[in-house]
Amino acid sequence: MPVTILAIESSCDDTSVAVIRDGYILSNLIANQGVHLSFGGVVPELASRAHQANIVPVTDQALKKAGVQISDIDAVAFTRGPGLLGSLLVGTSFAKGLALAMSIPLIEVNHLQAHILVHFILDKNKENRIPSFPFLCLLVSGGHTQIIVMKNHLEIEIIGNTIDDAAGEAFDKCGKLMGFGYPAGPAIDELAGLGNPYTFHFSKPYVKDLDFSFSGLKTSFLYFLRDRLKGENDFIEKNKTDLCASLQHTIVSILMSKLIKASEKTRITEIGIAGGVSANSGLRKAITAEAVKRNWSIFIPPLVYTTDNAAMIGITGYYKYLRGDFTDQDVAPVARF
Ligand code: KG4
Ligand code: ZN
Repeated sequence: MPVTILAIESSCDDTSVAVIRDGYILSNLIANQGVHLSFGGVVPELASRAHQANIVPVTDQALKKAGVQISDIDAVAFTRGPGLLGSLLVGTSFAKGLALAMSIPLIEVNHLQAHILVHFILDKNKENRIPSFPFLCLLVSGGHTQIIVMKNHLEIEIIGNTIDDAAGEAFDKCGKLMGFGYPAGPAIDELAGLGNPYTFHFSKPYVKDLDFSFSGLKTSFLYFLRDRLKGENDFIEKNKTDLCASLQHTIVSILMSKLIKASEKTRITEIGIAGGVSANSGLRKAITAEAVKRNWSIFIPPLVYTTDNAAMIGITGYYKYLRGDFTDQDVAPVARF
């Protein structure tokens, strides 16, 4: 009997619903919320309201696109956290109601674990290549920067973590200093392609073992701009591409040096990246080059699976379903684990 999972993701500002059958993606719909654009960041109250408005139509469309009836669903998977509490409440309540009404199991999913599991989503229209275990994954998002060892689909060990800001925050905060809107990562990435990464040098932190730190880089970037702007008030405008290229190069070098260290330490050569910052073209190029040098077998997610999506919740839910790892109706979302 096939196993069909309906998955709900509502941890931040994307309302996403996916249908996954036996690990194969049937649909993955994402409604982005334009309401936050003029505020320069996600406004939690507006995010939960938009989720509330979007969740039923997005679910309808996801089922339609998958060619699946609601009665064909075997379980409902949802993001329990981490994320914005009001946003998580919408997805959690909806998933609970649906599971109860349909008398099917409910499966809670950790959003961060799900980001890594994107590498296991199968696609009928593609040649499917999935990692074998142990798998080493660099998870880089707006809120997290971690190096994780996956022992099997559901057992993970975090062997490196940021002690302050996440890599995505470094992009966003430095981008803000240059006048970019939120999130700044994609815009910096685009301009970096036109600039010289060796024009400016920003401090790289010394952090022990496999941990990261990005707050020093942000401060060094701030002081650097402040000094240069004193002599030349159009310094940013004149040097934007080189600034973006040099900043991106610094962030990517920090990430890659720890990933290389992690591979050497664990002797794992099955390596991937995941999370919003894994969309970064500099990081993608760097890991591809390193893979050739070091004989790594690498996994880079399709762009649609780098940012928040329900397909990743669905694939995690699928493996939990196979284990019989179900959640009770008294579950509540958690902003932080
Ligand atoms: O995983 P994600 O969608 O949300 C979180 O769970 O945090 O990640 C969002 C982060 C933002 O900081 C954004 O600036 C960054 O991912 N990002 C990028 C790129 N695309 C998104 N950073 C650098 N280059 C990109 N192309
Ligand atoms: Zn995320």
